[in-house]
Amino acid sequence: MSKTDNVKGYDNSKINWYPGHMAKAKKMMQENIKLIDVVVEILDARIPLSSKNPDIDEMAKGKYRVILLNKSDMADPEKTAVWKKYYEDRGFFVSIVNSKTGAGVKATSEVIQKACREKIERDRKKGILARPLRAMIAGIPNSGKSTFINSFAGKACAKTGNKPGVTIGKQWIRINKDVELLDTPGILWPKFEDQTTGLHIAFIGSINDDILFPEDMALELIKILVKDYPNALKERYGIDVTGAAGQDIVSGGNPEELSGQNAGTYDDADSQEPMNPVRILEKIGQKRGCLKKGAEIDLLKASKLLIDDFRTQKLGKITLEMP
Ligand code: G4P
Repeated sequence: MSKTDNVKGYDNSKINWYPGHMAKAKKMMQENIKLIDVVVEILDARIPLSSKNPDIDEMAKGKYRVILLNKSDMADPEKTAVWKKYYEDRGFFVSIVNSKTGAGVKATSEVIQKACREKIERDRKKGILARPLRAMIAGIPNSGKSTFINSFAGKACAKTGNKPGVTIGKQWIRINKDVELLDTPGILWPKFEDQTTGLHIAFIGSINDDILFPEDMALELIKILVKDYPNALKERYGIDVTGAAGQDIVSGGNPEELSGQNAGTYDDADSQEPMNPVRILEKIGQKRGCLKKGAEIDLLKASKLLIDDFRTQKLGKITLEMP
């Protein structure tokens, strides 16, 4: 496959993979969901829309709903606050967490209780002795489910074992007197509504990198950086897109240019040409020494470097999408 094939004929089906796994995971969730009171959905705060699988709305009908904006340490705090309100306005109880450090994790217990207060109140009125609320953690791969569960449950917590009337073999983790978790998280494979969703999910590493197209991802990331985080380009790569050269930036990179005819020849200090995402990628490659034999810029290497810098937070706290 040529380089241009990668970017020109972008096809979502290429990354809509593992139908077998997906079906199995959905079945497992459907079987378990009847046992629980509340679905706690983990989203990646850098992509709070793309990391939300719409299937769960169908599966979790009639359940109380909590959203955790996880990896908040990697996301833009102002934008995380906007997303919190966005989901609260839509009826979710939302908490901002960093499962890695545990920030906001313990408070999830209160958020779960708030989400379920109607049931708690109903049971109380009926004189039913309150049992712990049963929660299931759900989310797409790599959103941080296991990290969250480990942090939420802590070391001291013991599995409570099987419950009468509950499918044999199900393990519950008692968090405290109010909440227990089903120990198997519901894995939801991402749903690719469109190309952008697919790319954004790819950025956070939920898709096996072997089946990705780094140049597509890099160009999409550059567009976002130019629009929302120009300083990141300046600070990391010394590329000033806010100055005179940057004023002409066109947002749509022409993938044809990836064929190489311009590669290695661009220098915005001398050029009067507008800087588009492809040119910025070339510039990143040039600045970071991503060169092929003959000093041609290695755009694949430059793309991977940029993606890696995003994933390892070298570009700062970045949120890729807004409501
Ligand atoms: P999953 O069960 O949903 O698939 O996700 P998992 O918990 O395995 O987390 C995926 C990666 O995300 C892990 O990194 C984990 O440490 C990281 N992670 C989870 N929550 C947070 C968070 O709030 N902030 C940050 N910065 N990272 C988080 P990894 O590189 O795969 O593993 P490791 O290096 O931590 O061992």
